This record gives sequence, structure tokens and C-alpha cells, in this order.
Amino acid sequence: MQRLIPTLRNDQVDEALISVINSLQICAKEISFRVGQGELAGVLGSTLSENIQGETQKKLDILSNQLIKEILLECQHVRAVASEEEEGIVLGHDNGKYLVAFDPLDGSSNIDINSMVGTIFSILPVPENNSGDVDMFLQPGRNQVAAGYILYGPSIMLAFTTGNGLRMFTLDQTVGEFLLTKKDLQIEAETSEFAINMSNFRHWQEGMQLYVDDLLAGTSGPRAKNFNMRWVAAMVADVHRILCRGGLFAYPWDARSANKPYKLRLMYEGNPMAWLVEQAGGLAHSGEERILDIQPTDIHQRVGIILGAKHEVETCLRYLEGSQSGDKTV
Ligand code: F6P
Ligand code: MN
Repeated sequence: MQRLIPTLRNDQVDEALISVINSLQICAKEISFRVGQGELAGVLGSTLSENIQGETQKKLDILSNQLIKEILLECQHVRAVASEEEEGIVLGHDNGKYLVAFDPLDGSSNIDINSMVGTIFSILPVPENNSGDVDMFLQPGRNQVAAGYILYGPSIMLAFTTGNGLRMFTLDQTVGEFLLTKKDLQIEAETSEFAINMSNFRHWQEGMQLYVDDLLAGTSGPRAKNFNMRWVAAMVADVHRILCRGGLFAYPWDARSANKPYKLRLMYEGNPMAWLVEQAGGLAHSGEERILDIQPTDIHQRVGIILGAKHEVETCLRYLEGSQSGDKTV
């Protein structure tokens, strides 16, 4: 079975980028070890964690952030990192060619119940004449050169793209290597499965409410088929399911707060997941535009997300268009 780094070399991926990805692979092994230790994580250390010894009682999301930051910044090709857990960017090496944005431990409330969590990452090129400040990161997702996630589940999986299709690797814990287990994954255009936090129903736009009403109506409604719902409540796990067996995932616009109308983040969650889904033949849309075309204005900005099976996302968007005149400033 093919290992991660030789697979990238086969694809003629830039050696500097391979080096960044290798650093992420080291992070993945370290975090998976800690996640696997569960409540023992604060007691047992591991060889790679010497730099953060004495801080092992920290929550795993904070610890994961620290680990990724430190390991990535050791890589000479990393110009800067941006993390969901950091207010500002953290600068690395002046001549680094790449920027890495990451969500260190997505779905971290699942930690308390020993359920799936993951690390999501997005790698961008450093723009020419870069300013050395946060503006470097404000590029649309279509500029990404690599993106993926590591899922800490019953097995540890890395889903990954450099624009050459979507591949999945599984960590062989006996040898400590990610081995290629799935390639050229494609999401079926049709589906009868959806994932959404139904408890937010009353906060959605009318179009979203009508769409979900019609899914729930099953064979007796206008869609004339029954839909099943699945919701892990960790985006990384919900998107993983969609990549593996299809479906639609949505965390749409939400009227709870005029200033913070969405839940998920564009740079750490939306962009990397959107690219993986598009690589697998699916669609990823904010409700207003293709996610990968959004010009970010803030590294922490939030975005509406509707992604997955092509025809189902298109159907959902048609419902939303029908309510485009709805008041979005509620
Ligand atoms: O990162 C945010 C996150 O944990 C996602 O992984 C997940 O989809 C979402 O929040 C769940 O939030 P809620 O339970 O509020 O719907
Ligand atoms: Mn997250």
C-alpha cells in the first residue's frame, strides 16, 4: 500500500509543500495519540510533546493548537500560521512559501463523550510582495494548494487533496505511517440523506425551512421520497460521512445574531472542506456564492455552508433563491 509522502512525490508535488504536509502528518500522529489516551491524556505524555511538558492538563483543543503551531513553525517553508484558536496570525520563516490555516480540533465538545473529532487544514501560497501581516491570508479558497483533515475516529484517517483528486489514507499504527486506502472518491449526485442541526430550524431563512420541510415530508411531499438524517455534530465527521457515502451537509445562515450570523469559519472549515467536496464531484456553496470564490475580509470570518451531493445542493439552492427577498438583517 502506498505511503503518503511517496504518493505526493508521484504527483510531483513541490518538495517544500511536501515538507509542510509532513509536518502536519507528525502533528496528526501526536494528536491522535493524545485523543486516544482520552482522560489519561493529562497523565501520560509522549516523546514529541517535550516542548509543552508541564502543560498537559490543558484541554485537548488548546493542546492540539499549541502542538500544530509549534511543529509547523519548525518547518522552514512555513511563512505563517492562522488558527481558529489564535486571535492573530503567528509568523514563521521569512522565506517560507506557504501559509497554513487550521482548526486544531474540530468538534471538540465530542471529546467529553469519546466521539469523533478532527484537525482541518488549508494551505495557501504566500502572495508575491507579501506584507508579512494578516492580509497574506485573505485569499479565496480556490487559491489553496493543499487541504484536508485528519479524523480521529475508531481509525485515524487523513483525507487530502492537492488538486489531483481526493485521497484518503489510514494510519497504520503498527508502523506509524499513513497508507493510501481510498482514491479518486466521488460523491453521488443524488442522495436521500441529509445532515443539519434541526434545533436551529426557527432561525433559518424561509427558503431553508421550506427545503427541510419538504425533506421531512418524505414520499407524501413534493420530493416524493424519504430522506434519512445523520448528525454527528462535528463538521469533520459529518463531512467525512458525506465524502464516503454521499449526502448533504448544511450549516446555513442563521438569524440568532446580526453580527455573527453563521457558525462555521471560512478559512479553517469552509474552504478546505469545500475543496475536498468539489474534488469529489460535489458542490459547496454559502447560500449566496461558491465557497471557494469568497474573498475573505477577516481570517476568522464565518460562512454559511451547504455542501455535498451535487443535485441535492442545487435543489437546496433553488429553495433559497425562492426566498432571496427575505429580510436577512433580522
Ligand atoms: O467547529 C464548530 C463545530 O464544532 C462543528 O464541528 C459542528 O458542525 C458544529 O460546531 C456543531 O455546533 P452545534 O452543536 O451548535 O450545531
Ligand atoms: Mn471547528
